[in-house]
Amino acid sequence: MQRLARQWQRRHRRVGFVPTMGYLHAGHLSLVQAARRRVGKTGQVVVSIYVNPTQFGPQEDLSRYPRDLARDLKLCRAAGANVVFTPSDAEMYPPAVGSACGDDRTAERTVPNSRFSTYIVEEQLSQAMEGAARPTHFRGVTTVVAKLFHLVLPDVAVFGAKDWQQAAIVKRMTWDLNFPVKIIVAPTVRAADGLALSSRNKYLNAAQRTQAVILHHTLQRARAAVRRKSIPAARLKADLEKFIASAPLARLDYLELFDPDTLTPVLTAKRGTQLALAVYLGPTRLIDNGQL
Ligand code: PAJ
Repeated sequence: MQRLARQWQRRHRRVGFVPTMGYLHAGHLSLVQAARRRVGKTGQVVVSIYVNPTQFGPQEDLSRYPRDLARDLKLCRAAGANVVFTPSDAEMYPPAVGSACGDDRTAERTVPNSRFSTYIVEEQLSQAMEGAARPTHFRGVTTVVAKLFHLVLPDVAVFGAKDWQQAAIVKRMTWDLNFPVKIIVAPTVRAADGLALSSRNKYLNAAQRTQAVILHHTLQRARAAVRRKSIPAARLKADLEKFIASAPLARLDYLELFDPDTLTPVLTAKRGTQLALAVYLGPTRLIDNGQL
């Protein structure tokens, strides 16, 4: 992948990149289209499909995460991707080779007991919300995204607003570590009833699927509440928590009202405030967010 990317670089081809974990839906494909718009007809659009083990906690759905590579490849082709990069775990997290590190290509023998041991940790934006609920999640995301950036060497990379905190953390990493990559955040694609498309929606049974729209309705209710005037965040939060409790299959994990750029909690909710929430429907945890 890196060799190919360097060829493109030498030929001054622009490269747009969409990292995914596969089981693609219209949300992912909208990112592929956004990447195409950014790099033009002559540019290269790369989609990666890799279910990254380091961003899953021990009790999470890594082994059950839905996969359908044949279908994904067709969808990528139809959406206009040039290359689909599908590395294996052994390629992404190999044992070290050489004397002390993997850079010594003259001595390609594996170092005994040499598991993968270098991670990227974003410290400021990763603490709350998804970071609090999933302690090692963002360390896995930043690490794999940095590795993928080094492999694909993109000019632009597109992330979905659906994972607002993830996009903010990737932007911060890119800035802090001087990656020459422009990060684009594309809007959330939703089903007809408003549920944000997600590979995990597949886990829902019919009753859970019906009630999953509570996440979107919570966003709408919050928007309506601040349309005319600002209100104390605590009051809005209490109202929304009660509202979510009205869906019997829904169990709130967290709901936060925060500044969209700094991700710091606000005391007053108003237009422009960001709302993010995570809700369990049975064992399935869904997230959504939006600007009020
Ligand atoms: P995954 O959940 O497959 O999502 C890949 C990208 O698609 C992310 O940028 C995500 O925000 C975006 N996306 C998901 N659902 C969307 C929707 N309904 N509308 C618009 N965009 C949507 O996020 C990951 O994978 C991983 O953490 C990854 C960044 C690939 C690192 O492993």
